[in-house]
Amino acid sequence: MYQAPLPTVYADMTPEEADARIVAAKKVLGSRLVVLGHHYQQNAIIRHADYRGDSYKLAKDASRHPEAEFIVFCGVHFMAESADILSGDDQHVILPNLAAGCSMADMANLFQVRTCWQELEKVLGPQTKITPVTYINSAANLKAFVGERGGTVCTSSNASKAVSWALEQGDKVLFFPDQHLGRNTGVALGYDPDSDMVVWDPFKPLGGNSPERIREAKFILWKGHCSVHKRFTVEQIEQARREHPGITVIVHPECPLDVVRAADLSGSTETILHTIEAAPAGSTWAIGTEINLVSRLAKEHPDKTIFCLDPQICPCSTMYRIHPSFLCWVLEELVAGQVPNEIVVPPKVKHFAKLALDRMLTVCS
Ligand code: 13P
Ligand code: SF4
Repeated sequence: MYQAPLPTVYADMTPEEADARIVAAKKVLGSRLVVLGHHYQQNAIIRHADYRGDSYKLAKDASRHPEAEFIVFCGVHFMAESADILSGDDQHVILPNLAAGCSMADMANLFQVRTCWQELEKVLGPQTKITPVTYINSAANLKAFVGERGGTVCTSSNASKAVSWALEQGDKVLFFPDQHLGRNTGVALGYDPDSDMVVWDPFKPLGGNSPERIREAKFILWKGHCSVHKRFTVEQIEQARREHPGITVIVHPECPLDVVRAADLSGSTETILHTIEAAPAGSTWAIGTEINLVSRLAKEHPDKTIFCLDPQICPCSTMYRIHPSFLCWVLEELVAGQVPNEIVVPPKVKHFAKLALDRMLTVCS
């Protein structure tokens, strides 16, 4: 989405000034405001968050403060949309920089998913029941698509539960937009990544598959990925093990299957955080996820050796767009009585998207 340039006074602000003005604006707004921060946010933002967490935790935190007039979401667009869907009608959800999107979420749109669904129905016929599951990293209208068709949303921390539930509902699961989370989850549930799964390429007829392969497959995985997590490799894990005997490797499940298999553990950002917190002093960890979280964990746990699996810095560039000067700007606008950058999901989309999100919260609680 387009974000207008910040007024010069904000664009030219020093980090210290932004920090002090954020603290002051938060004080004025008091309990009218809740600030949520995803684990990938930079420290200069996280220090102002009332709640920090992974997508699942923040989705729940968003509905915990019905008294707050303003929920400022320091994360990316799909997260703010989920917060709007789950919060009250009288609450305003604000994304400090509208250009903070998610490139993976952009890899599936409603037109493409509708076309896929119609083609699958044509190949499989009315006797085959497909349950759609969308990763929370998706636009609200895709959550609504899923909600309307009896499916659910999942996050990286509850994908196994959500997909198991979806498999119980029918014959096949259409999982989008992250093929890796879908594949890793299916494999963890005992399915074969080759014979039980096909990949759906939205730019090819029948997603690039034969009708026979679609009929055989249990999982239809959308051809989407995260550009940050795609960078982690088995070679990096082998190198870390060579250089640090006794190391433990933990990666996010958006990483490719061979990386998840080569790692010792995998889990959502919240799982990674708790695993490191519980690790004994003196232990050594290579982490396969976004650099802001890895660097923060390394700083918060000086008694452990913690580093990022990818020696090149590995940031999520869109998360980084929530710069302190943007946070300062939206908070001061709120103090002045304006509501900037509000994320509003249209009512019809909201209705069905809420159905899918509520289903996730019920199935996965
Ligand atoms: P988490 O739900 O694990 O925080 O993941 C969200 C995300 O976008 C990871 O790339
Ligand atoms: Fe999207 Fe990947 Fe960034 Fe997560 S890390 S918000 S999946 S681009």
